[in-house]
Amino acid sequence: MSSTQTTPRRAVRVAVVGVGNCASALVQGVAKYTDAAPDEFVPGLMHVDLGGYHVRDIQFVAAFDVDSRKVGHDLSEAIFAEPNNTVRFAEVPPIGVTVSRGRTLDGIGQYLAEVVNESPLPEVDVAKVLRETQADVLVNYLPVGSEPSWRRRFEEHGLPIIGDDIKSQVGATIVHRMLARLFRDRGVRLERTSQLNVGGNTDFLNMLERSRLESKKISKTTSVTSQLEEELEPQNIHVGPSDYVPWLTDRKWAHIRLEGRSFGDVPLNLELKLEVWDSPNSAGVVIDAVRCVRLALDHGLSGALEAPSAYFMKSPPVQHRDEDARHMVEAFIAEHGQVTAAPAVTPARDAALVAD
Ligand SMILES: NC(=O)c1ccc[n+]([C@@H]2O[C@H](COP(=O)([O-])OP(=O)(O)OC[C@H]3O[C@@H](n4cnc5c(N)ncnc54)[C@H](O)[C@@H]3O)[C@@H](O)[C@H]2O)c1
Repeated sequence: MSSTQTTPRRAVRVAVVGVGNCASALVQGVAKYTDAAPDEFVPGLMHVDLGGYHVRDIQFVAAFDVDSRKVGHDLSEAIFAEPNNTVRFAEVPPIGVTVSRGRTLDGIGQYLAEVVNESPLPEVDVAKVLRETQADVLVNYLPVGSEPSWRRRFEEHGLPIIGDDIKSQVGATIVHRMLARLFRDRGVRLERTSQLNVGGNTDFLNMLERSRLESKKISKTTSVTSQLEEELEPQNIHVGPSDYVPWLTDRKWAHIRLEGRSFGDVPLNLELKLEVWDSPNSAGVVIDAVRCVRLALDHGLSGALEAPSAYFMKSPPVQHRDEDARHMVEAFIAEHGQVTAAPAVTPARDAALVAD
């Protein structure tokens, strides 16, 4: 539902943890579509005006990183600092948010250590910064392998969360899920399938470390197998990031193959290659997700948001068909969209989460 002229607009105050390629695409995307007409078609967004929140209502209020080329810089500059290497598709004016020095914890793995220059600055008190900046939503863009127990902690604090692991607009996951579903719907018995991904960003570099890869591999595999009627033997499915090819920069190639049997037990094989810019592919999804979290906050919802998690994320608490999940999110927006004049002042509380 669009807000009317009598409805005061409210901000969605966003903090980001990890100012890498995904954060870059998110910040650029908000700048690019700030003046989009509410009913305009913008590729990658469900709605320019989602439940009364326009893209321009997203305001960045805090950002955290550990790399000296980002910490201490305005967010608008930090997003273009190395080793970020995604496409530059929008000019971003100064934002007035200086990237704070977060706690390193387990964020930097064996391979990332070669490309991340750890900032010598003292770390800030993250919780304090979030409170002082009155962040509504925190977007977790930490590298793969950093695994705090986000869901439980947000539930305990009565705050909503959408997670886990962003499902890109048209990425390898959703294409693979759709093809698996097509086989099932058309009665083809899927016998074997694989998805090999290569890319040249730091996410792929980090995932050379096999132990860090495990959660990603499980997330991607389950996302595909959840669409099948019969279980595939583990040796007959291989889904995961496969290698790091530096010259691809933030591009990603996904090679997908499905081998099945059709009528008469005759072989039917399908193979495709998808080429995408990895990070912009996720940014529209996050712009929609943070606004859904804001709607949940407006209505005092807490815990994992089932429909938005199923549609926006690879590893939601409950898997649904993508088509069903989209309808469920539309229903969520219609139910919780802004219909009455909202209070101009946001009540004090902790930030909700979009957990990648
Ligand atoms: N389409 C996509 O690109 C996509 C889709 C789904 C999930 N993801 C996931 O999103 C996450 C971010 O991806 P990315 O491409 O932006 O990665 P990236 O490597 O470009 O960015 C990660 C950033 O986090 C910073 N960092 C490391 N440890 C930190 C800490 N303790 N505190 C604060 N900052 C810290 C790094 O310095 C870096 O700037 C990854 O986990 C990735 O798997 C990406």
